[in-house]
Amino acid sequence: MSEDRYLTFALGKGRLADRAMELLEQIGVTCPQMHEKNSRRLIFVNEELKMRFFLAKGPDVPTYVEYGAADIGVVGKDTILEENRNVYEVVDLGFGRCSMCVCGPAGARELLLHHERIRVASKYPRIAKDYFYNKKHQTVDIIKLNGSVELGPIVELSDVIVDIVETGSTLRENGLEVLEEICPLSARMIVNPVSLRMETERIQRLISQIRSRLEAEGKDGRG
Ligand code: PRP
Repeated sequence: MSEDRYLTFALGKGRLADRAMELLEQIGVTCPQMHEKNSRRLIFVNEELKMRFFLAKGPDVPTYVEYGAADIGVVGKDTILEENRNVYEVVDLGFGRCSMCVCGPAGARELLLHHERIRVASKYPRIAKDYFYNKKHQTVDIIKLNGSVELGPIVELSDVIVDIVETGSTLRENGLEVLEEICPLSARMIVNPVSLRMETERIQRLISQIRSRLEAEGKDGRG
């Protein structure tokens, strides 16, 4: 296909988007409009490269990419697993590393060993359900929360939580600990399956440039 068509990127708002733009800039994919201060603009264009960029809430990024409203997305692996959209995950970008874990007070370890019917609070009900039902074969009650999930065991809403652990300081400061690790997480690049077919050359070129850059930095670029 010709390069007349815009390639559109959806970036998860916040640190992920900043790190993603830094990486893209290192391979020559720049967007000066994004650095304009006090702008209320929602979508940023680089006419020369025929590329567009927009920021979205993390959980919405796979949605934009699945529907083809964005060709490419950058989002955490946690969101990819939770949203379970029809997108291709093509590169592990190596930043935003953390883990999805079952956490709780030390005393809850016992409940996990004996496969008791426990309450699990999480912002990630799909991940929690998949882990307990399909991997551990343990029937649990899952309670969806939207943040500050560590409160769950403290106020006895739940026995344990399934949440992201990065430095571990939120757990430590609240008397909780990692009881089981579910999976490692990091930022990933995702692609719309039709875009990959229609724009194979441009997207593959971009993927190889990113992989080479990550390899040069000593990070794994494989998705
Ligand atoms: C995330 C996560 C943990 C915390 C982990 O929360 O849900 O609470 O960060 O980081 P740490 O191991 O370095 O302490 P976030 O700050 O995104 O806010 P939230 O609790 O409202 O989801």
